[in-house]
Amino acid sequence: MLRLRILGINSGTSMDAIDLSLVEFTQDDPDSPLYMKPLKYAEMPMDLAVKQDTLRIILENKSSPQEMCELNFRLGHTFADGIARFLVDQNVDLDRDIDAIACHGQTIWFIPQPGPGETKSTLQMCEPAVLAQRFGKTVVTDFRAAEQMAGRQGAPLACFQDALSLVHPTLNRASQNIGGIANVAFVPSERDGGLDQSYDFDTGPGNVLIDAAVRFIANGEREYDKDGEMGARGTVYQPVVDEFLKDPYFSAPIPKTTGRELFGDATARRLVTEMRAKGLSDDDCVATITRITAASIVDAYKRYGPRLPLHEVYFCGGGSFNPNILEHIQECFPDTKIALLDASGITAASKEATSFAFMGLECLVGRPLIVTKIEVQEPTVLGKITPGRNYLSIVEQVAAFHKGRKTQDSGPWLPAVRDLRVWKNQTRPKELEDPRLK
Ligand SMILES: Nc1ncnc2c1ncn2[C@@H]1O[C@H](COP(=O)(O)OP(=O)(O)O)[C@@H](O)[C@H]1O
Ligand SMILES: [Mg+2]
Repeated sequence: MLRLRILGINSGTSMDAIDLSLVEFTQDDPDSPLYMKPLKYAEMPMDLAVKQDTLRIILENKSSPQEMCELNFRLGHTFADGIARFLVDQNVDLDRDIDAIACHGQTIWFIPQPGPGETKSTLQMCEPAVLAQRFGKTVVTDFRAAEQMAGRQGAPLACFQDALSLVHPTLNRASQNIGGIANVAFVPSERDGGLDQSYDFDTGPGNVLIDAAVRFIANGEREYDKDGEMGARGTVYQPVVDEFLKDPYFSAPIPKTTGRELFGDATARRLVTEMRAKGLSDDDCVATITRITAASIVDAYKRYGPRLPLHEVYFCGGGSFNPNILEHIQECFPDTKIALLDASGITAASKEATSFAFMGLECLVGRPLIVTKIEVQEPTVLGKITPGRNYLSIVEQVAAFHKGRKTQDSGPWLPAVRDLRVWKNQTRPKELEDPRLK
């Protein structure tokens, strides 16, 4: 039997916090269901100087090798400080409760679809040796690079977990993450292909433009539009929304992914300046920029959603706490049930960090993830392992788990997990008859 407790760590495009999700995975043998039990989740602040330097380095795009060299280790120490606080705040015992750390790090640069003269590539930073040395645990990082080398774009990396946790016999579902960038995973019912017909892509900006607009308007004294208060006071100026949605990203075919390179602070500042010149209030600017996010999500569903009724959408990421986004989507899809992802057993806030814990597990076990139907169908194990002092005990456990199995029977890699059972709060596995969502 396999039993690994993995601390998944992520800081997204927003750089609002370091997200930490401790998850226990158990599986009797490679052919039986994989159980996922989210144990603890918290968000820790990122060192302000590191955050500001990272944002500046990304914005300026002209750093020295020395600056990049130091940034990699500074991010490593910042993430490590987040882990240290998490252990104390959440009463987690490092030796007893954690087997491995799976860290997505901070995305510094990302070229999913190279233009002329560019190379497809990605740069996540957070030196894993810092984490491995400070905590003695084995660390898995850098999940996107292998995705790119398998012929895919490298993001979003959400679909495998969304599909496994949401697939339903008869209901067509979607999982909508609204982080800095927003991405959707469509999960058709099992009747309509289920796991094999699932796919995901970035719909466009999530909170990144809203946050940048609020920071600009408030001279850096506020970071985001808490609970959509400014947006709710303002009035949407539709011509700016319509004009923005003409950006070629929205009509580009899927698969597609984006980031700060396309939707960043400069864009938000330009929008605010233009709207102020038209006499619109700051609240109107935030309402309009918020509507850009909501309308681009609606637009993406209409253009690229499966040609099936969409029964339920589950929201996650920080933007799911902004009612101005969700209300507009509900108005456009009145027959669709809208809920937070929490109903699946994975909370809206913890979703991404939890999925990195899952990716870390699959790397250690040597399994690929389910490949979505719109990408190159080449299974690949994702991630890079940095051994910690407990490395051999993990290797022993994984070897015992695979004992007797001939990997060559299924090709170069083992088959991906196709049956995930997420433990709901307070539920114990024996008592779960049908642990999937009803
Ligand atoms: N209560 C809230 N009201 C409105 N927006 C929120 C709220 N909580 C979080 N957010 C938004 O969510 C963002 C963080 O979302 P997150 O999912 O962590 O994104 P990322 O993956 O890019 O880090 C914040 O920057 C903020 O814009
Ligand atoms: Mg975040």
